[in-house]
Amino acid sequence: MTPDLFADDAPLAGARTPLGAQAVVLRGLALDTVDALWAALQAVVAQAPFRHMLTPGGQTMSVPLTNCGALGWTSSRAGYRYRADDPDSGRPWPALPEAFARLAERAAAAAGFAGFAPDACLINHYATGTRLTLHQDRNERDFGHPIVSVSLGVPALFLWGGARRADPVRRVPLFHGDVAVWGGVDRLRFHGVAPIRAATHPLTGQARLNFTLRRAG
Ligand code: SIN
Ligand code: FE2
Repeated sequence: MTPDLFADDAPLAGARTPLGAQAVVLRGLALDTVDALWAALQAVVAQAPFRHMLTPGGQTMSVPLTNCGALGWTSSRAGYRYRADDPDSGRPWPALPEAFARLAERAAAAAGFAGFAPDACLINHYATGTRLTLHQDRNERDFGHPIVSVSLGVPALFLWGGARRADPVRRVPLFHGDVAVWGGVDRLRFHGVAPIRAATHPLTGQARLNFTLRRAG
Protein backbone atom coordinates (compact mmCIF):
# COMPACT_ATOMS: atom_id res chain seq x y z
CA MET A 1 0.00 0.00 0.00
CA THR A 2 1.03 3.61 -0.43
CA PRO A 3 1.90 5.16 2.92
CA ASP A 4 0.93 8.60 1.55
CA LEU A 5 -2.66 7.45 1.03
CA PHE A 6 -2.87 6.51 4.67
CA ALA A 7 -1.18 9.74 5.73
CA ASP A 8 -3.84 11.76 3.85
CA ASP A 9 -6.43 10.28 6.18
CA ALA A 10 -4.67 11.56 9.30
CA PRO A 11 -7.01 13.87 11.23
CA LEU A 12 -5.86 17.38 11.92
CA ALA A 13 -3.57 17.81 14.90
CA GLY A 14 -5.66 19.10 17.77
CA ALA A 15 -8.72 17.04 16.87
CA ARG A 16 -10.18 14.69 19.47
CA THR A 17 -11.62 11.26 18.72
CA PRO A 18 -13.79 10.16 21.64
CA LEU A 19 -13.52 6.47 22.57
CA GLY A 20 -15.72 6.52 25.64
CA ALA A 21 -16.92 8.70 28.50
CA GLN A 22 -13.34 8.80 29.87
CA ALA A 23 -11.29 7.73 26.85
CA VAL A 24 -10.10 9.82 23.90
CA VAL A 25 -7.50 9.99 21.12
CA LEU A 26 -5.76 13.37 21.15
CA ARG A 27 -4.69 13.80 17.54
CA GLY A 28 -1.11 14.91 16.98
CA LEU A 29 -0.57 15.88 20.62
CA ALA A 30 2.99 14.46 20.61
CA LEU A 31 4.06 16.17 17.37
CA ASP A 32 5.62 19.19 19.06
CA THR A 33 7.91 16.98 21.15
CA VAL A 34 8.72 14.14 18.75
CA ASP A 35 12.40 15.07 18.46
CA ALA A 36 12.86 14.95 22.23
CA LEU A 37 10.89 11.68 22.49
CA TRP A 38 12.95 10.11 19.73
CA ALA A 39 16.30 11.15 21.20
CA ALA A 40 15.23 9.88 24.62
CA LEU A 41 14.05 6.61 23.10
CA GLN A 42 17.46 6.02 21.50
CA ALA A 43 19.12 6.51 24.88
CA VAL A 44 16.69 4.09 26.57
CA VAL A 45 17.17 1.42 23.93
CA ALA A 46 20.97 1.74 24.17
CA GLN A 47 20.72 0.76 27.85
CA ALA A 48 17.79 -1.66 27.64
CA PRO A 49 17.42 -3.09 24.10
CA PHE A 50 14.14 -4.39 22.67
CA ARG A 51 13.67 -8.08 23.38
CA HIS A 52 11.07 -10.77 22.72
CA MET A 53 9.52 -11.97 25.97
CA LEU A 54 7.69 -15.24 26.54
CA THR A 55 3.98 -15.41 27.29
CA PRO A 56 2.94 -17.30 30.43
CA GLY A 57 1.96 -20.07 27.99
CA GLY A 58 5.55 -20.23 26.74
CA GLN A 59 5.04 -18.60 23.32
CA THR A 60 7.40 -15.92 22.03
CA MET A 61 5.64 -12.54 21.77
CA SER A 62 5.83 -11.19 18.20
CA VAL A 63 6.25 -7.61 19.37
CA PRO A 64 9.59 -6.94 21.10
CA LEU A 65 9.47 -4.55 24.02
CA THR A 66 11.53 -2.63 26.51
CA ASN A 67 10.77 -0.31 29.44
CA CYS A 68 11.83 2.83 31.20
CA GLY A 69 10.82 4.28 34.54
CA ALA A 70 10.97 2.93 38.08
CA LEU A 71 8.95 -0.14 37.07
CA GLY A 72 8.92 -2.15 33.86
CA TRP A 73 6.22 -4.51 32.60
CA THR A 74 7.50 -8.04 31.97
CA SER A 75 6.09 -11.34 30.79
CA SER A 76 7.51 -14.79 31.37
CA ARG A 77 6.39 -18.33 32.05
CA ALA A 78 5.89 -17.14 35.64
CA GLY A 79 3.25 -14.60 34.50
CA TYR A 80 2.99 -10.86 33.91
CA ARG A 81 4.54 -8.53 36.40
CA TYR A 82 6.15 -5.16 36.96
CA ARG A 83 9.72 -5.23 38.19
CA ALA A 84 12.29 -2.60 39.07
CA ASP A 85 15.13 -4.39 37.30
CA ASP A 86 15.65 -5.42 33.69
CA PRO A 87 15.66 -9.24 33.80
CA ASP A 88 18.19 -9.34 30.91
CA SER A 89 20.82 -7.14 32.58
CA GLY A 90 19.89 -7.21 36.27
CA ARG A 91 20.13 -3.40 36.27
CA PRO A 92 17.34 -0.93 37.00
CA TRP A 93 15.33 0.11 33.93
CA PRO A 94 16.51 3.42 32.42
CA ALA A 95 14.95 6.44 34.12
CA LEU A 96 11.71 7.82 32.69
CA PRO A 97 12.82 10.62 30.32
CA GLU A 98 11.51 14.11 31.17
CA ALA A 99 9.99 14.41 27.69
CA PHE A 100 7.92 11.24 28.29
CA ALA A 101 6.74 12.34 31.73
CA ARG A 102 5.82 15.83 30.55
CA LEU A 103 3.84 14.56 27.57
CA ALA A 104 2.02 11.99 29.71
CA GLU A 105 1.01 14.63 32.24
CA ARG A 106 -0.15 17.00 29.48
CA ALA A 107 -2.13 14.28 27.67
CA ALA A 108 -3.78 12.99 30.84
CA ALA A 109 -4.76 16.51 31.86
CA ALA A 110 -6.26 17.17 28.41
CA ALA A 111 -8.31 13.98 28.84
CA GLY A 112 -9.60 14.99 32.27
CA PHE A 113 -7.03 13.28 34.51
CA ALA A 114 -5.08 16.08 36.18
CA GLY A 115 -1.85 15.36 38.05
CA PHE A 116 -0.91 12.10 36.33
CA ALA A 117 2.62 11.05 37.37
CA PRO A 118 3.65 7.82 35.58
CA ASP A 119 6.25 5.52 37.10
CA ALA A 120 6.35 2.99 34.24
CA CYS A 121 6.63 3.17 30.47
CA LEU A 122 6.30 0.08 28.28
CA ILE A 123 7.74 0.55 24.78
CA ASN A 124 6.53 -1.77 22.01
CA HIS A 125 8.20 -2.07 18.60
CA TYR A 126 5.82 -3.20 15.84
CA ALA A 127 7.26 -4.48 12.57
CA THR A 128 5.08 -5.04 9.50
CA GLY A 129 2.56 -7.81 10.13
CA THR A 130 2.87 -7.85 13.91
CA ARG A 131 -0.16 -7.35 16.15
CA LEU A 132 -1.29 -7.23 19.75
CA THR A 133 -4.25 -9.41 20.65
CA LEU A 134 -7.16 -8.05 22.70
CA HIS A 135 -6.29 -7.63 26.36
CA GLN A 136 -6.93 -5.47 29.41
CA ASP A 137 -4.19 -3.55 31.20
CA ARG A 138 -4.68 -4.90 34.69
CA ASN A 139 -1.26 -5.56 36.21
CA GLU A 140 -1.15 -2.10 37.80
CA ARG A 141 -1.82 -1.70 41.51
CA ASP A 142 -4.46 1.04 41.29
CA PHE A 143 -6.85 1.31 38.33
CA GLY A 144 -7.65 4.85 39.45
CA HIS A 145 -4.80 6.08 37.25
CA PRO A 146 -5.24 6.38 33.47
CA ILE A 147 -3.20 4.81 30.67
CA VAL A 148 -1.47 7.18 28.23
CA SER A 149 -0.47 5.62 24.91
CA VAL A 150 1.75 7.46 22.40
CA SER A 151 2.04 6.36 18.76
CA LEU A 152 5.07 7.07 16.55
CA GLY A 153 5.86 5.97 13.00
CA VAL A 154 3.68 3.97 10.63
CA PRO A 155 -0.08 3.96 11.29
CA ALA A 156 -1.97 1.24 13.11
CA LEU A 157 -5.56 0.21 13.57
CA PHE A 158 -6.27 0.30 17.29
CA LEU A 159 -8.83 -2.29 18.39
CA TRP A 160 -11.07 -0.72 20.99
CA GLY A 161 -13.43 -3.13 22.70
CA GLY A 162 -15.65 -3.09 25.73
CA ALA A 163 -15.60 -4.32 29.30
CA ARG A 164 -15.96 -7.92 28.15
CA ARG A 165 -13.76 -9.74 25.67
CA ALA A 166 -16.79 -10.65 23.50
CA ASP A 167 -18.02 -7.04 23.22
CA PRO A 168 -17.96 -5.37 19.78
CA VAL A 169 -14.59 -3.97 18.74
CA ARG A 170 -14.14 -0.61 17.03
CA ARG A 171 -11.17 -0.11 14.69
CA VAL A 172 -9.63 3.32 15.24
CA PRO A 173 -6.65 4.43 13.12
CA LEU A 174 -3.73 5.77 15.14
CA PHE A 175 -1.17 7.97 13.41
CA HIS A 176 2.29 9.33 14.16
CA GLY A 177 2.00 11.74 17.08
CA ASP A 178 -1.43 10.62 18.28
CA VAL A 179 -1.93 10.06 22.01
CA ALA A 180 -4.72 7.85 23.35
CA VAL A 181 -5.79 8.18 26.99
CA TRP A 182 -8.19 5.90 28.83
CA GLY A 183 -9.10 5.85 32.51
CA GLY A 184 -11.96 6.00 34.97
CA VAL A 185 -14.95 3.99 33.75
CA ASP A 186 -12.99 3.07 30.59
CA ARG A 187 -9.81 1.97 32.38
CA LEU A 188 -10.39 -1.77 31.90
CA ARG A 189 -11.66 -1.71 28.31
CA PHE A 190 -10.29 -4.50 26.12
CA HIS A 191 -7.91 -3.21 23.44
CA GLY A 192 -5.29 -4.39 20.96
CA VAL A 193 -3.59 -3.62 17.66
CA ALA A 194 -4.50 -5.11 14.25
CA PRO A 195 -1.64 -6.50 12.12
CA ILE A 196 0.51 -3.56 11.00
CA ARG A 197 0.26 -2.88 7.27
CA ALA A 198 3.43 -2.39 5.23
CA ALA A 199 4.34 1.30 5.17
CA THR A 200 7.36 3.52 5.63
CA HIS A 201 7.67 6.53 7.88
CA PRO A 202 10.50 9.09 7.57
CA LEU A 203 11.37 8.87 11.28
CA THR A 204 10.91 5.19 12.09
CA GLY A 205 11.30 3.41 8.74
CA GLN A 206 8.95 0.45 8.50
CA ALA A 207 8.18 0.36 12.20
CA ARG A 208 5.58 1.64 14.61
CA LEU A 209 6.66 2.53 18.12
CA ASN A 210 4.17 2.75 20.96
CA PHE A 211 4.84 3.99 24.49
CA THR A 212 2.29 3.28 27.18
CA LEU A 213 2.76 5.31 30.31
CA ARG A 214 1.23 4.01 33.49
CA ARG A 215 1.23 4.46 37.22
CA ALA A 216 1.98 0.85 38.12
CA GLY A 217 3.25 0.88 41.70
C1 SIN B 1 -0.74 -1.73 24.58
O1 SIN B 1 -1.92 -2.04 24.68
O2 SIN B 1 0.08 -2.00 25.46
C2 SIN B 1 -0.24 -1.00 23.36
C3 SIN B 1 -1.29 -0.39 22.52
C4 SIN B 1 -0.71 0.20 21.24
O3 SIN B 1 0.33 -0.25 20.75
O4 SIN B 1 -1.33 1.12 20.66
FE1 FE2 C 1 -2.55 -2.59 26.68
